[in-house]
Amino acid sequence: MPETRTAGVTGLGMSVPSRVLTNSDLERMVETSDAWIIERTGIRERRIAAPGESTSTFAFGAAVEALNAAGLDPAEVELIIVATATPDMLFPATSCLVQHKLGAKRAAAFDLEAGCSSFIYAMAVGAQFISSGCFRNVLVVGADTLSRITNWRDRSTCVLFGDGAGAAVLQPVKPPRGIFSVVLRSDGSGADLLKLPAGGSSLPTSEETTRNGLHHLVMNGREIFKFAVRAMEEAAAEALRNGGIKQEEVDCFIPHQANIRIIDALAKRLCLPAEKVLVNVDRYGNTSSASIPIALYEAVSTGRIKPGSLALLVAFGAGLTWGALALRY
Ligand code: ACO
Repeated sequence: MPETRTAGVTGLGMSVPSRVLTNSDLERMVETSDAWIIERTGIRERRIAAPGESTSTFAFGAAVEALNAAGLDPAEVELIIVATATPDMLFPATSCLVQHKLGAKRAAAFDLEAGCSSFIYAMAVGAQFISSGCFRNVLVVGADTLSRITNWRDRSTCVLFGDGAGAAVLQPVKPPRGIFSVVLRSDGSGADLLKLPAGGSSLPTSEETTRNGLHHLVMNGREIFKFAVRAMEEAAAEALRNGGIKQEEVDCFIPHQANIRIIDALAKRLCLPAEKVLVNVDRYGNTSSASIPIALYEAVSTGRIKPGSLALLVAFGAGLTWGALALRY
């Protein structure tokens, strides 16, 4: 029986498109205003994929940087999980495309889809492979290209999203370092609140689905807003409780970057001061599965998370899904 090991983050990377779409660009596309978008969402600009770029482009870029940071040769990677709701195509898995581009010849690869909670789910799954003694070198990537499923004529959604990827290398570490408290939840009764209606097996692509715009994301923003605050509060509080952590011990709080009002409401409910809350939604918008790893990357590269810091990650998304994860860096 292999010994139980703790998984920790040993390398991080990120990659976003170079093309910036500002609120004033959007003012020229739909009836909206910079002031409305900033007040209701906190977003000022987002990155949008260029023709020829796709989820695997950014996933690969983030993966290369994370492997370099960990000092890990791609040939040593044993598992690649790509967390995404916008794979390059329905199959094969985007993780296999990344595996090939990296030359990670020994790696198993699969995609994981849990809406915007995908990265938390994927970190939890990757950590299990390490804890069980099955693998020592796991690459977890959160990547999405939501611009490809956005209805650019729907002002209530097209102002919200951006593209990109973040990646983390997981390896065995010595406690107290590592991932030590995980909460994962779902509630499919809310499936209709946020979905991509067509293109799957229940409503396959047809002239009619295309004509009716069913290949674009649809969302009930108000209901998602209410759910987001409630669910993330529940998950964060449970992760703290299960991990035996007091609020004041958290050095950096990284919530899914969907909307500044959701983040502020959540931080207030959890009694976390603003200086501990990572916010970059103003620069990237909601990048779905990429939002948390990009924020984690920025927290580490700006020194907000240092070796030994305690980070609390929390997300919500389509499914509905939500979850939280505590990690000592
Ligand atoms: N510009 C100007 N006006 C707008 C825009 C816009 N871009 N979008 C909507 N409006 C209008 C509406 O038409 C409405 O007008 P009306 O009162 O005349 O009908 C008015 O603004 C208010 O609309 P609401 O939907 O009530 O606005 P709200 O304050 O709820 O903000 C928003 C909308 C930003 C979408 C908010 O509900 C939200 O952030 N919800 C959560 C969304 C979210 O997090 N989604 C991601 C979930 S998971 C994932 O990451 C994929």
